[in-house]
Amino acid sequence: MTEGTLKPQSHKPTRRDFLLLTASAVGAVGTAYFTWPFIDSMNPAADILAQSTIDVDLTPIPEGQAITVVWRGKPIFVRKRTAEEIRAAEQTPLSELIDPEADQARVKKGHDQWLIVVGICTHLGCIPTGNKPTQNRGKYGGWSCPCHGSLYDTSGRVRHGPAPLNLSVPPYAFLSETHIRIGTDEVTHG
Ligand code: FES
Repeated sequence: MTEGTLKPQSHKPTRRDFLLLTASAVGAVGTAYFTWPFIDSMNPAADILAQSTIDVDLTPIPEGQAITVVWRGKPIFVRKRTAEEIRAAEQTPLSELIDPEADQARVKKGHDQWLIVVGICTHLGCIPTGNKPTQNRGKYGGWSCPCHGSLYDTSGRVRHGPAPLNLSVPPYAFLSETHIRIGTDEVTHG
């Protein structure tokens, strides 16, 4: 064969091909190795799932008082309102509210005696007082924040700052007249 003539292509694997294949295999194994913990961390652990909803028995709660239950690490106030407290919440004009929201939008239809809110002040996260009538509830009769003086009404709506927003309402549903499930808006009966 004379100089300048193209040699036929050889398909025998070369040392370079071997090194490339080896690198690819290591890459694939490496990806599998590092991806697994990531995927695994996206599956909630069983104890987290168990805490994702809690059932609350309402029967021990006296009218005019609230209890605190813990849901996903947050205090939840469950309050049994008096007729007077419901009336005050319903009759407050939206124009007087810092974060306008009708009382009816914050309770379940047919269960307006029950107010369920996250008990964390929307200013900087302190826990307001007022679950018991003997505690300071402020002039709007709901809760009072001991940290910087925010006041909430009997619908958990902020009426005096610096808190900018109402106490939030968590997802919940009535299981019966006397039991609620916090953590879901729907109850499936099975
Ligand atoms: S944290 Fe409640 S008023 Fe500041």
